[in-house]
Amino acid sequence: MPIRYIPYDKVPVKGQAILNNITRTQRLLSYKDNDKVYERIIRGIPYYELNEIERVGEASENLIIRGECLSACAYLKEQGIKVDLVYIDPPFASGADYAKKVYIRKNPKLAKKIKKAEEKLELDELASFEEKMYGDIWSKEDYLNWMYENLMAIKEVMSDTASIYVHLDWHIGHYVKILMDEVFGEENFRNEIVWKYFGPTSTKVNYPRKHDNIYYYTYSDEKIFNYEACLVEYDEKAIRRYDKIDEDGRRYKIYNEKDGTQRRAYMNAGTPTEIFEIPAEQNPYYGTQKPQALLERIIKASSNEKMIVADFFGGSGVTAKVANDLNRKFIHCDIGINSIQTVRDRLKESRAGFKILEVQDGLNLFRNPTQTMDKLASLIDGLSKEKPEGINSFWFGVITDSKYGTIPVYLPDLRDSTKKVLDIVAINEVINKEIHNFDSFSGEIKKVVIYYVDIIDLNEIKKFIKENNETLIEVELRDLKQVLDFVVIDDKVDFSLNENGLLYEVKINSFYSDRLKQKIDEYNAKQASKAKGSFITISDDGLELIEYISLDCTNESGSWKSDSEIKIDKNGFISVDGVKTKDFWDGVITSTQKPKRLKIRNIAGDEIVYIC
Ligand SMILES: C[S@@+](CC[C@H](N)C(=O)[O-])C[C@H]1O[C@@H](n2cnc3c(N)ncnc32)[C@H](O)[C@@H]1O
Repeated sequence: MPIRYIPYDKVPVKGQAILNNITRTQRLLSYKDNDKVYERIIRGIPYYELNEIERVGEASENLIIRGECLSACAYLKEQGIKVDLVYIDPPFASGADYAKKVYIRKNPKLAKKIKKAEEKLELDELASFEEKMYGDIWSKEDYLNWMYENLMAIKEVMSDTASIYVHLDWHIGHYVKILMDEVFGEENFRNEIVWKYFGPTSTKVNYPRKHDNIYYYTYSDEKIFNYEACLVEYDEKAIRRYDKIDEDGRRYKIYNEKDGTQRRAYMNAGTPTEIFEIPAEQNPYYGTQKPQALLERIIKASSNEKMIVADFFGGSGVTAKVANDLNRKFIHCDIGINSIQTVRDRLKESRAGFKILEVQDGLNLFRNPTQTMDKLASLIDGLSKEKPEGINSFWFGVITDSKYGTIPVYLPDLRDSTKKVLDIVAINEVINKEIHNFDSFSGEIKKVVIYYVDIIDLNEIKKFIKENNETLIEVELRDLKQVLDFVVIDDKVDFSLNENGLLYEVKINSFYSDRLKQKIDEYNAKQASKAKGSFITISDDGLELIEYISLDCTNESGSWKSDSEIKIDKNGFISVDGVKTKDFWDGVITSTQKPKRLKIRNIAGDEIVYIC
């Protein structure tokens, strides 16, 4: 439950153009469920406790926050931290779930033997399976209501001279532009940047889509815009053609007019325009990763050294990485564990100093909300997603019970933060709307189950149900976290600690992950149905399922301090304390001080900590 709600100080901007076919209530674009957003804005930004889970490198103000954009904004506001530049690349409402490939690593016991043979293996040939990173399937209404709240919260933490860049595409970008007019003011809209990318295309029934849209607003007229810093590089061909330089250093060529006269034609290349032609990132860490060159142009143009650059949907951490390289401070936020680990490792390699904070909002049940939702159906006893006719999509599924018959079950959609808290508004929808839809079942539905991850006040909700439920249908409330706590089985490690001269040596003897085993079994079962299926086999000691190992020789509990660490990449090569090598892992990690704790991350990102 949020510790409290932090009021919004800013109000949506007044006096915006109103489109004829969109009417507004409460100064919001009028979409379904608008009134709920309005109520949430009035209530404030939910503020949850944050725990420091790790500190890396020298003390600094740089932050990596695992949690939702809203929670990160509540924290920054509470701490009085203002940011100077925001770049966000949120889900695009693309109608797809995003997955990442999880690669099986080399088993240290076999590594030496296979080193030679496998050095040239292409990535495609490495054994791998897919894991969902985040979901991007929304109704337009849900998306816009969610985005409105996020933009309002972000505005609360922007400095008076800050800029914001919102990166979207054709799916929903034009609607968000209108939301942004309302949140930031039409007069603060500076430009629409087109990121033009390249690459093959398969469509022949439409113009191939080769650009994204980035909406650029500033908080006020008093903005930072470094024109010189964003001049684009001259391209070589143009330089050859424009071979003369005038007294001010500008390139030109002599142009012969039809009438035989000559004039100077100046070269335009080099002048920044809102079209950014930048190739997509090669070898990305993340499916939706944006190129460093794109962020470089934005960060150089709209911030100065030492300023704070924030990305609340940070993904692979490209914004944080480039900000750090350009001597800015960074704040990276994301809900997915894989994002946090990727940016942590990336910034460690860059020798940055930062703290990692985790929002205690009860949402971090599995690696990310999408995977949690996928799991839920299998975790709740007897729950089936197949629903009899007449039970609408509000209900996640049904339980069939010998006493009660069909029990519709509601689960909060963990991918949408606005659905997380069971409050009076949410329960009112159940009591005064949804259970009345069962009237036509003539008494067949006797009970419904409402799961919650977060509840404002259990007694108040129960009282509300008692006083307002005019049907004979019983409403049972259940805590979702208890279901999950019970079922998640932690990974298991067998290790030994030895002193070897001046070094302490931790040897990993075996590793077992029930979660990965289930996933690999699932993968193999699918392969079995294919004519040429390729199976994944895991050795008895399971060391090929480890991605990262760290020793904390400083703290026995609380925030992690990595005094020695090894990361194993897709090809099996290790980085030692953030420095890449061409060695394979030998199953051992050493430290000069006595280790107090051992942390192991498996290839899908689950972490386990052992006391040494
Ligand atoms: C398109 S990706 C960002 C990619 C990033 N710009 C990069 O270059 O790697 C969107 C990210 O938003 C995260 N996300 C989705 N909903 C979120 C929320 N409510 N708060 C914070 N992060 C969220 C997802 O986990 C995902 O990593």
